[in-house]
Amino acid sequence: MRLSERSGKIESFHVRKILEMLDKRRHDPSIISFGGGAASLAPPQEMIHSLFSKLKNNPRKYSTYTPSQGIYTLRWKIAKNLRKYGVKISPEQVVMTDGGTEALFLAFSALFNPGDHVLIQDPGYFNYENPLRFLGVKAKYFRTRMKDNYQISEGELKRRLTKKTKGIVVVSPNNPAGTLLTKASIKTLARFAKKHKLWIVCDEAYRSVVFEGCYEDIYRYAPKNCVNLTTFSKSASSPGLRLGYIYGPKDAIERMVRVKELTSLCSNSWSQTAVQEFFKIKDSYKANVLIPTYKRRRNAMAVALAKYLPKAKWIMPQGGFYIYADFSSYRKGKNDVSAAEKLFKKEKVVVVPGSCFGPSGKGHLRLTFVSEEVGQIEEGIRRIARFFR
Ligand SMILES: Cc1ncc(COP(=O)(O)O)c(C=O)c1O
Repeated sequence: MRLSERSGKIESFHVRKILEMLDKRRHDPSIISFGGGAASLAPPQEMIHSLFSKLKNNPRKYSTYTPSQGIYTLRWKIAKNLRKYGVKISPEQVVMTDGGTEALFLAFSALFNPGDHVLIQDPGYFNYENPLRFLGVKAKYFRTRMKDNYQISEGELKRRLTKKTKGIVVVSPNNPAGTLLTKASIKTLARFAKKHKLWIVCDEAYRSVVFEGCYEDIYRYAPKNCVNLTTFSKSASSPGLRLGYIYGPKDAIERMVRVKELTSLCSNSWSQTAVQEFFKIKDSYKANVLIPTYKRRRNAMAVALAKYLPKAKWIMPQGGFYIYADFSSYRKGKNDVSAAEKLFKKEKVVVVPGSCFGPSGKGHLRLTFVSEEVGQIEEGIRRIARFFR
């Protein structure tokens, strides 16, 4: 029997393959994982307790469908929280999604037509090209460079612009590079989008994981052009909740809700209930648990990299979960895919090849610093150094 051409266009992710490989060897304690992007902390206890007690006391109420767009009071809390960043939106401008992944799919479905061109950041998250291709949209990479702190250059955007260009996808804090878009980059992007009537899709999956500086929200600079999305997978250390949200202009959100009714009808009601509680404690969880733990691990990885792999080039991530390093000065580092495979086989260290994040990723590896404790981080970097020697 024949299968659809559209589904055949989806390439399976290298990162998912790594996670499957890791899952099979879950019980091998000698493996060190700098691979996946799952938060390693436990979700906040308060959130879990509150969800359990609500479910125990009133299981029917909390286990039914929610409105397609998501629970109103939760969307109200999200809109209120965004005011701190100068974003003025109403709950009608928010739709709850099944993680950042569905958010991307809803946004792309509502904004772009088959045949449109969309510019995506290189390096950037690996899951933009596939959903765009699935929808018949052409993804074109635009380059951001380490020497520019991975900021946006108007020249790069102009070079890629055609009559068919309808949008730009950016990610801040960047996955894989950990940089935040500066106010100057954001203003350039906002001006460019307004001038050329383009959508900006801003992926802010790590907006709560910022170690230095403040998160600057692009939405307030171009509210008619921007669709922003995030997820509780990172901020609430709960990727299994599969919950995120999008905010944007009301008409765009209304379209996304229509698509949502096809993909999942509504997001999980237990997850939405849990996250309502999360809003009460999120600032203290972030300040006392999330940031100090991950910052310690980031610093440990940075120190070990500088000590054991002095020829690697990278910049200190301001946010996110990863250090993204160019190992091409080492002979074995030139081919990132083969280096990642061999590192796993020979040294039992899991890393992700840079090529997963765009054409400029050759010779780079992405190293997650959130998954292991400080001692294991140093040991993992020592093993990588041994491999490159
Ligand atoms: C930049 C970025 N966007 C989106 C996602 C997808 O989010 P979720 O896992 O909540 O679907 C991720 C997940 O790692 C991510 O790193």
